[in-house]
Amino acid sequence: MVKKIVLSFLLLINISLVFSQQKTISQKVDALLKQMTIEEKIGQLTQYSFDWRATGPITVKRDQEEAIKNGKVGAMLNVLGSKYTRQYQEIAMQSRLKIPLLFGQDVIHGYKTTFPIPLAEAASWDLEAMELSARIAATEASASGINWIFAPMVDIARDPRWGRVMEGAGEDTYLGSKIAYARVKGFQGKSGDINAVIACAKHFAAYGAAIGGRDYNSADMSDRMLWETYLPPFKAAVDAGAATFMNSFNDINGIPASGNKYILSDILKGKWKFKGFVVSDWGSIGEMVAHGYAKDSKEAALAAITAGTDMDMESNAYRNNLAQLVKEKKVSIKLVNDAVRKILQKKFELGLFDDPFKYSNSEREQQELNNPEHTKIAREIAGKSIVLLKNTPPFAKVGAGVLPLSKDIKTIAFIGPMVKPLRANHGAWAINLPEIDSTYIVSQWKGLENKLGKNTQLLYAKGCEIDGQNKDGFAEAIAIANQADAVILSIGERWDMSGEAKSRSNIHLPGVQEDLVKAIMATGKPLVVLINAGRPLIFNWTADNVPAILYTWWLGSEAGNAIADVLFGDVNPSAKLPISFPREEGQIPIYYNKFNTGRPFDNNQHSPYRSAYIDLPGSPKYPFGFGLSYTTFEYSELKLSKKKIKNTENIEVSINITNTGKVFGEEIVQLYLRDKVGSVVRPIMELKDFQKIKLNVGETKTVKFIIDNQKLSFYNEKLEFKSEPGDFDLMIGASSSDIRLRDTFELIK
Ligand code: GLC
Repeated sequence: MVKKIVLSFLLLINISLVFSQQKTISQKVDALLKQMTIEEKIGQLTQYSFDWRATGPITVKRDQEEAIKNGKVGAMLNVLGSKYTRQYQEIAMQSRLKIPLLFGQDVIHGYKTTFPIPLAEAASWDLEAMELSARIAATEASASGINWIFAPMVDIARDPRWGRVMEGAGEDTYLGSKIAYARVKGFQGKSGDINAVIACAKHFAAYGAAIGGRDYNSADMSDRMLWETYLPPFKAAVDAGAATFMNSFNDINGIPASGNKYILSDILKGKWKFKGFVVSDWGSIGEMVAHGYAKDSKEAALAAITAGTDMDMESNAYRNNLAQLVKEKKVSIKLVNDAVRKILQKKFELGLFDDPFKYSNSEREQQELNNPEHTKIAREIAGKSIVLLKNTPPFAKVGAGVLPLSKDIKTIAFIGPMVKPLRANHGAWAINLPEIDSTYIVSQWKGLENKLGKNTQLLYAKGCEIDGQNKDGFAEAIAIANQADAVILSIGERWDMSGEAKSRSNIHLPGVQEDLVKAIMATGKPLVVLINAGRPLIFNWTADNVPAILYTWWLGSEAGNAIADVLFGDVNPSAKLPISFPREEGQIPIYYNKFNTGRPFDNNQHSPYRSAYIDLPGSPKYPFGFGLSYTTFEYSELKLSKKKIKNTENIEVSINITNTGKVFGEEIVQLYLRDKVGSVVRPIMELKDFQKIKLNVGETKTVKFIIDNQKLSFYNEKLEFKSEPGDFDLMIGASSSDIRLRDTFELIK
C-alpha cells in the first residue's frame, strides 16, 4: 500500500514537473513573441537552403547570411556537419534576439551509414528494424548539426512510373501506416535526448497519386479515396507525435496543397488536432502562381498562411509579402503569431535556446559517425530487405534451387554493370558527402570477396552499360561465364533513374541488359540475377527464364555484404513486396486491393465481357506481399473465436505456422479481409494485419490476430468511418495471391 502511495506521489511530481516545464516553455515563447518585430516574426517563418546543396530550383536572391544576421531566417536546410551548422548558428547569435536556427535535412534512409532505400526496407515488413534504422540515422544526423529531419515520406504510391516510389512504403495503406508510425518514432527518439530531433511527415497530401506517375502532377480523386487510401499514413504520423509536416507540390482536386485549407486546417490542424507546424516544400508557396491558383507571390502568401502553411521554404513569399498583408489587415497578426509560436515551441523543446550549439559538437560527431554497430545493423536490415523472387533448379530440372550458392564453388563469374559501382548502392536521397565521409560503401564485388576469400576464383566482366545499345562487352562476359561453375548477373536501372523528378514512362530494364541475360543463359551455366532498382521494373523474359532472381533494390552502405549473405545462405531471404510489379506499363495503376467491378476478370474467364485487357493477363507479374524463402512454411489450424460478432466485439484468429524446410527462416503472415457487401463497394481484399515470425527447422508457432471493429470499418458516402453489418471473408496468406487458409464470419447489428 505504501509503495502505491509513494509511486503515485512520484507520478504526481513528474506530471507537475512536465506541466510546469511545458508551462515554462509556453511562457518563454509568449515572452519572446512580445519582443519580436513583425519582420523578426516573419523571419521565423522563412527557411533557406545552403546553396551548393540545393535540392530544388534556385529562384530567389541568395542573401542568407545577411538575412540570418538581421533575424530574417528561422531555419536552414542542406547545411551539413557540425562545422557548417556551427558557423550559421554563430551568425544567428549575432541577431538582435539570438533566436537559434533549425537545421533541416533529407535524412531519408541514413546519414553517414546508409540504409536500404525506404521501399526496400518496407519489403522487410520489420517495423522494429525500420524504427531502429531511423533512430540510427537521426543519431548520426543529430551529431552532425541536424535537428530537423525531413522524413518519413509516407506517400502511398500505386504507380511505379513515379520516381519517388523509392522513398515511401509502397501501395498499401495499412502497411504504410504502420511503417509511418515506426519511422516517426525512430527518427524523433525521446524528446530532450541529445540525439532527439523533430521529424517531418511528408508530402501532405496525395503526392503519390500524381496522374500518370508524372512527378508534381495533379492528384484528382474523391474525398472517399483520399480518406481511405492516402490520408491514414499521415494520421499515423500524427499519432506517433510527428513534430512537423511538409505539404506536397501537387494540387489536390484543383487546389495546391500549399494553399489547401481543407487538408491543412480542416483535417490536419482541425480534425486531427495536429499541434506542430507545417513547412512548404521547396518553393511550393510561390509555385501557386505557376499552378494558376495565385495571381502573384502576394496572393500565394495569403493563400498559404490562411490555409495553414506555417513556414515558407525557399519561395520568399512570406518574407516579401506577409508584413504588407498584415498591414492591409488581410492577414491577422494572430495567424502570424500562431505560426511563430509553434516554431519557437519546437526550438525550446529541442533545447536550442539553452544551447544553440548542442547539435554542432565535432567530438560527438566523430564518435557517432564511426560507430561500427551502425554498419552492422545496416547489413542486417539490408539482408532483411532483399526479396527472393524465384529459385528453381538450373534449367527447370528436378532438385534444389540454384540458391543458396555453395561457398565451395571453385569459380564464379560475377557479371554486370552493377557489380563494381560504389555510390550506386546508396540509391537516391542518400547524403553522400565527402566531408562526412559517407563513401563507406561495400560494393557487390567487395561483398563477394569478403564472403569467399581465396576459396573461390571470382571472374569479372561488366558485359554492358546500364543503358545504351552497345553489346561489345557481351563476348567477354560470355567467355568468363563459360569458364565458371556458376554465374551471378547484377543488372537494373541507374540509381538516379528513381527519386525526385525521375518519373519514367518505360520501366523495363534499360539498354541491352536483358539481351545480356539471354546471352548468359545460352551458356548453360547456373545463373542468379540480381535486380537493383528504386522501383518495380519490368523484366518478363528474365522472370520467365532465369532460375534464380533476387530483387536487391538499393541496399546502402553494406549492400555487398548483405547480398553475399543471402547469395550464400548465411541469411535466408524473408522480404515480401510492398508494391505490385506490373507485367507491362499498360497495366498501371495495378494494385491488389482493387474493386471487383460488375464484370470481374476472375469470375468471367470465358466471357469476353469482363474487366480485362484482351492482350495481357490481368494479374501482376509479382503480387503485393510476395517473396520466397530458402525454406518452406505450412499454414494450418485456422481458428476463429467467434463466427458472429457485434461491432462492440472482437474475434481472435489463430493459425499454426510450421517451418517444413531444411533451414531457419522468417515468414510474414498476412491477414486479409473482404467486406462482401457495403453501402459503397469494398475491395476484393485488404491487408488488415501481419506478423513476421522466426521459425527453426520443424518448429511450429501459433500466430494470433485480433479482429476489432476498426478493422471492419471504412469511409462511407458521408465520410463516416464505421462498419456495416454483413458477411466477411477472412484470408490468411503468404502473399496477396497465395492465400493458404480461409474462413468467414458475420458482423451483426
Ligand atoms: C524537395 C523534396 C522534399 C525535400 C525538400 C528539401 O523538393 O520534394 O521531399 O524535403 O525539397 O530538400
